[in-house]
Amino acid sequence: MAAPRDETHFGYSTIPLAEKQGRVDDVFHSVARRYDLMNDLMSGGLHRAWKDALLTAVNPPKGDRPFALLDLAGGTGDVAFRVAQAGGANTRVTVCDINAEMLAVGAERAAQRGLDHAVTFDQGNAEELPYPDKSFDCVTIAFGIRNVPRIDRALAEAHRVLKIGGRFLCLEFSAVDVPGLDALYELYSFKLIPRIGQAVTGDREAYQYLVESIRKFPRPPVFARMIEDAGFRRVSFRQMTGGVVALHSGWKL
Ligand SMILES: C[S@@+](CC[C@H](N)C(=O)[O-])C[C@H]1O[C@@H](n2cnc3c(N)ncnc32)[C@H](O)[C@@H]1O
Repeated sequence: MAAPRDETHFGYSTIPLAEKQGRVDDVFHSVARRYDLMNDLMSGGLHRAWKDALLTAVNPPKGDRPFALLDLAGGTGDVAFRVAQAGGANTRVTVCDINAEMLAVGAERAAQRGLDHAVTFDQGNAEELPYPDKSFDCVTIAFGIRNVPRIDRALAEAHRVLKIGGRFLCLEFSAVDVPGLDALYELYSFKLIPRIGQAVTGDREAYQYLVESIRKFPRPPVFARMIEDAGFRRVSFRQMTGGVVALHSGWKL
């Protein structure tokens, strides 16, 4: 059931809307240093294939054509690095994330990989972006939107900062719809992920939140409608790995 307007879900709990961002920030502050390792462990490396599908959809130009990508809730820069490496000489990626700890890990990695000329890290809230209208050719958000308290505002902001003809792409955990796999996934999510989280990051609660927040996120057709409501056109989605994740797409036309 949907929470009242001034309340929201934090995993399976209902909390005041105004408290959600602080609680989410605590989660990512606590796991930042181990975040990328946890992604590999939890998904068995599958998050790489999902991000590759996102990269294929972004399709940064290989030549000299300028291309500006905004990666919202971009955390430690994983999506940004993939796009910067795949794109041509004038591909520029801006990572915008609310959490300074995640950004600091990302900035260190960009320097280590020699990508700091192509990738910038900005602290900012997806609900209120610090960029002018029509600044980017593409806006991505990977495993970030379900953490944002006011999803409608973040979608409206993504639309505002996109150039006309620009594309919005959102990769997010979804609902498993393959009989048999759903029960297995449920068991894995609720029994194993919080334990792996405890062992690797020392924070079981953070991973309990993660699993619960996935279950509370709107199903693909509902989320697609939210993207349309923000003004995007030709909205579509594609589920992957039996529905474990969904890639949504919309255009600013
Ligand atoms: C699960 S991580 C995803 C990181 C990265 N996109 C990836 O796929 O590896 C979620 C990120 O969302 C960020 N986040 C949460 N609320 C946000 C907000 N309101 N604005 C911007 N970023 C936010 C968190 O700080 C965290 O880095």
